[in-house]
Amino acid sequence: MGKKARDIVKVDIQDLLKDLNSLYADEWIAFYYYTWAAGFVEGPSYPPIASEIEKISKDEFEHMSELSDRIYELGGEPERNLENLQKIANCKKITFPADERDLESVIDALAEAEACAIEGYNKLLLKLSSCYSKDVRTFHLVQHILSEEIEHEEAFENLLEKKKQ
Ligand SMILES: [Fe+2]
Ligand SMILES: [Fe+2]
Repeated sequence: MGKKARDIVKVDIQDLLKDLNSLYADEWIAFYYYTWAAGFVEGPSYPPIASEIEKISKDEFEHMSELSDRIYELGGEPERNLENLQKIANCKKITFPADERDLESVIDALAEAEACAIEGYNKLLLKLSSCYSKDVRTFHLVQHILSEEIEHEEAFENLLEKKKQ
């Protein structure tokens, strides 16, 4: 990050980097599980569900990359060890049903994962909101990602509603 850009950040950068790295880990884990789930689902109504999961997995990959850019800008480094990602993540695991045709349980697990992401981003946003002007760029990035996580949860809940009809 440029000198001036670093100068205008008036929060505890090490603490912020720790939070951003946990969210970065969450995004990798979500991307992994969603990609896996898109391949796992089966049954007559699976094509629209698989494509929705795949579409959202791409958003998670984008979030990971946006967080990575911000971590570098702040002078940090995104977690480089794969085995540490799960240790530092807020949302560590998604448990899917044993039966790939149990689409309701798959979507339920995904909606729960989104709820965890919403909680994580909201927590950081609340932390930053008391000092909004002290790191405007991170604030807006977290706000942007939170909005997309809210849309994801809604998308999965809508799929669940459709399945129940
Ligand atoms: Fe995400
Ligand atoms: Fe999401």
